[in-house]
Amino acid sequence: MRERNADDRKTGAKLRTQIRAVIFDLDGVLCHTDEYHYQAWRKLAQRIGLPFDRKINSRLRGISRMDSLNIILGEKAGCYTAEEKRQLAEEKNQIYRKMLRQMTPQDLSREVKETLNALRAKGIKQAVGSSSRNTGFILERLGLADFFDAVADGTEITHSKPDPEVFLLAAKKLEVPPSQALVVEDAAAGIKAARAGGFHSAAVSEEARSAGADYFLEKISDVLYIL
Ligand code: BG6
Ligand code: MG
Repeated sequence: MRERNADDRKTGAKLRTQIRAVIFDLDGVLCHTDEYHYQAWRKLAQRIGLPFDRKINSRLRGISRMDSLNIILGEKAGCYTAEEKRQLAEEKNQIYRKMLRQMTPQDLSREVKETLNALRAKGIKQAVGSSSRNTGFILERLGLADFFDAVADGTEITHSKPDPEVFLLAAKKLEVPPSQALVVEDAAAGIKAARAGGFHSAAVSEEARSAGADYFLEKISDVLYIL
């Protein structure tokens, strides 16, 4: 964990008392489903003969399913009707859900589990804030269906990240103002959303870090140093 600058270090103690809640992104933060998204999109892109690689995939992090499809279709997006796009998005989701069905509580890493439990022991409120419409299903697969104090996901929002809507909804459900909540994200779009909403932010990837996160976490358990 690296604090952003010396001033942050000086105010570290103050921050610790200010932050009462953590809002975790799901895919790529609490679990490795970001890799399943990549594999499912790659399969779809190959079938319809479009280029797809990890660089394109990184632009999809935090973005809704349909917005992701439009990025993959690129200039060809105009060649498809709304119904054809809906079917392509559904095809990708079916490939993805097949992978999700293989998940078990063993897919929750020990480090994440211990971090969540340690935050709970400190009395910190915890929520999930994810653009995914599969959030409930994934939390169930991981054995976390009843763990969080609040869940805000892609089924409840109109605008996906970088819009702050999902995090504002999570904070509202937690009854904690953004200024007292920390968002943990792997996506640049997620850090932008957190900043736009007035949250503290922590990045777990270089891309998220470069979007101006307040903190960089080398590993999830580093969040315990902030709080
Ligand atoms: C986000 C992922 O968490 O959820 C994106 O980072 C994904 O890559 C988005 O497109 C929507 O997910 P789903 O499960 O509703 O297709
Ligand atoms: Mg993510």
